[in-house]
Amino acid sequence: MAQRRVIQEIKARISLVEMARRYVDLKRNGARWVAPCPFHQETKPSFSINEEEGFFYCFGCQASGDLFDFYGRINGLDFRETLEALAEEAGVALEEDPRSISSHRDDTARRRAVSEKHQMLRMHEIAAAHFVGNLMGEAGRECRDYMARRGITEDVAKDFGLGWSLREWQSLADAIRRAGLPPELGIKASLLSKSERGRVFDRFRGRFMFPIHNLNGNVIAFGGRIIADEDEAKYINSSDTPLYKKGEHLFGLARARRAITTGVPAMLTEGYMDVVTLHQFGYGGAVGVLGTALTPDQVRRLSGFTSRVELLFDGDRAGRKAALRSAAMLLARGLSCKVILFPEGEDIDSLLRTRGKELFEKLRKQAQEGLAFCVRTLQDMAPRDAIEWARAFLKQVEQPELVSPYASALALGLGLAEAELREQAASGRRQGNRDVSQASTGAAVKLRTGEMLDREIMTFAVRYPHAMAKLRDAGAQLCLRAAWSRALWDKLENNPPDEVFHLLDPREKNFWVRCRAHDAPPLSNEEGEFAAVHAILTRLQLAEQQHSVAAALQQGAGRGDFETDLEYLRALQETLENSHGKQH
Ligand code: CTP
Ligand code: MN
Repeated sequence: MAQRRVIQEIKARISLVEMARRYVDLKRNGARWVAPCPFHQETKPSFSINEEEGFFYCFGCQASGDLFDFYGRINGLDFRETLEALAEEAGVALEEDPRSISSHRDDTARRRAVSEKHQMLRMHEIAAAHFVGNLMGEAGRECRDYMARRGITEDVAKDFGLGWSLREWQSLADAIRRAGLPPELGIKASLLSKSERGRVFDRFRGRFMFPIHNLNGNVIAFGGRIIADEDEAKYINSSDTPLYKKGEHLFGLARARRAITTGVPAMLTEGYMDVVTLHQFGYGGAVGVLGTALTPDQVRRLSGFTSRVELLFDGDRAGRKAALRSAAMLLARGLSCKVILFPEGEDIDSLLRTRGKELFEKLRKQAQEGLAFCVRTLQDMAPRDAIEWARAFLKQVEQPELVSPYASALALGLGLAEAELREQAASGRRQGNRDVSQASTGAAVKLRTGEMLDREIMTFAVRYPHAMAKLRDAGAQLCLRAAWSRALWDKLENNPPDEVFHLLDPREKNFWVRCRAHDAPPLSNEEGEFAAVHAILTRLQLAEQQHSVAAALQQGAGRGDFETDLEYLRALQETLENSHGKQH
């Protein structure tokens, strides 16, 4: 069955309402279903389902989509994984997408990769149990002593599945062999290593083990800490494997997610130990970045559940720098954050353990809002660096409506002309777009509102996809300025209306749902809506004509080409007359 058919079949068998009910407390509200949103913290019901169209939408965090988006997002799965899980549940057979089968060999290779992944998951399960067993057993005494010295309780160790890797070369390797799994695969899974002479041995030896889980709760990697004064790296981590890619995951997210969606604040910190300690002290929303600088993938994962994050960093130079970078990434993605800095030399683990919760709570109260923190930090930088930072930041801001408030705050804080910062940001954001707004003529100023016009045009296109031809004839496509609107136009134009939705990226889906949601006007006034868009298009085209005529006139002027000037002048007058005629 083609993928499109599979999707339709699954949707016919599993309703979005039934699925969502497993995760949230849905209540009927007129024609729709509402609940507190599972994707961000709240108590009032902003999450709403349009049963008929099979879409959900949150007015708080703007999460939106269909059954697949809901299931994937709430379980942290990519589209392929979502498809597989839902197909299995619905009892729909998944056949290979014919485009991806080029030969029988490819097919076998894919099957082998899938089964390898399964075996690796199984192997991690075995390893996790093995390490936990070690910790509890006789040989685990030295690690238990270490835990006690650091104040880690047995309960929290159990919660996190912490363990101990024996000071032996073949301990896990033997367990893997006993389970009938190939040791070679253990190497690929980054649990075992191979010596130059070809001997397989345990990668983690004599280390306090921290399992890393994916959002389904499966162990996919480990970090291991030395527990004595040893002349070795403090931590060894799994390297990248088919299951785990450094920078894609957050330590503790699987368990923190549950807490975060019920209103516990999300906290982002650096170390394994910090996350464990935070949980022990009752901060169940803590997650760790796992030894890297925060990555866009991690921000994306986090933004699936919450729109507000507390950043916990060292107060030293390196910590402030990391905080600035992390805050900027969150803000650019539209999340809000607070920055909590610790006295130099302390991390959250040492602070909570030696000074207790009160000091931490005091620091939390004094925390700065993310943007204010950025401004303060920039004020300490060389002005030129600060300006450069601000411009680079504004270019990364994803939602156009945030650029303006951010620019104002930064400009104010840096004592800059706001217009300059904004102008820079705007031209950065428009990169790659048709550049009609460069010249400073009156017409060009009018065209600045292009994004808004794009939105009007695309709203109509999404609401009435069968009327695309009419829109095109009216010149709509040529009037689109923004990259997003042109990309969406292409998708709408090149695909049948009932198949487009799945080709959209999350922001396009969001736009789509907004245009067609229950709360949007009913789809019953195509003629009227078209007339409105048509009027806008006409005005826009006239403005553009005037603009180009005026520009040509300016260019030609002074070259003594009187005849040409005159011709342009006539053309300009004509368009002006036209536009007056149309507008009044
Ligand atoms: N890290 C790492 N490899 C290292 C050192 C650090 O992967 N050689 C990562 C780990 O994820 C670690 C985090 O960076 O948790 C923070 O490092 P650090 O502050 O040194 O470790 P803590 O976890 O705070 O450990 P401890 O409190 O036991 O010193
Ligand atoms: Mn520490």
